[in-house]
Amino acid sequence: MIELDLLTTHADMAYSILTGLVTPRPIAWVTTLNEDGSVNAAPFSFFNVFGAEPPLVIFAPGDRGDGSPKDTARNCRRTGEFVVNLVDAALGEAMVRTAASLPYGTSETEQGKLATAASRTVSVPRIKAAPAALECHVHSIQQIGENRLVLGIVNRVQVRKAFFDEKRQRIRGEKFHPLGRMGGPDGYCRTDGLFEMKRPE
Ligand SMILES: Cc1cc2nc3c(=O)[nH]c(=O)nc-3n(C[C@H](O)[C@H](O)[C@H](O)COP(=O)(O)O)c2cc1C
Repeated sequence: MIELDLLTTHADMAYSILTGLVTPRPIAWVTTLNEDGSVNAAPFSFFNVFGAEPPLVIFAPGDRGDGSPKDTARNCRRTGEFVVNLVDAALGEAMVRTAASLPYGTSETEQGKLATAASRTVSVPRIKAAPAALECHVHSIQQIGENRLVLGIVNRVQVRKAFFDEKRQRIRGEKFHPLGRMGGPDGYCRTDGLFEMKRPE
């Protein structure tokens, strides 16, 4: 085995080593409200769901080079609300475009002509073309070094009809294929190669 010390000799490489190994990562395309009421959208793949009681998600915007928080983190702190939009292959290009660094208050949804739709339980709209969206209230924000972990409680889920089996009250995993994030700045994977493994009794 090759041993890598991420706190000393390999500290500069921690990001690329960890994001190369811990794959695929899900993508939260997070919408928040700017101070002027316009909609901010940005993708975050330091993201996952961490529990169901209460329904808990966490995503982590890193600070910018000058130490200032990213717009999404700033908006979450100010408004206490965000929406996680999930991303499938059809939306990939549009999602990546919103990762551009724009001056605070410039709306990615207006710039990229992304249609939004009203949410039910938060004032932040969701991205209309997203296959599913999680309406969240900020539980807390933990600052650890340059990372701001935004913990959110999911109040409401919006999911496209085709992806929900109403009879069984289940997401149709055989149809819902969000994009995964892989290592490197531009690496992604598809999630349609599913198989099952039975657990022991
Ligand atoms: C697929 C993808 C995943 C990303 N994940 C993260 C992440 O987890 N944390 C982060 O700080 N930036 C991440 N970024 C970069 C941000 O999206 C980018 O810095 C964006 O401009 C932040 O926007 P904001 O200032 O409007 O919040 C990611 C970019 C892409 C394309």
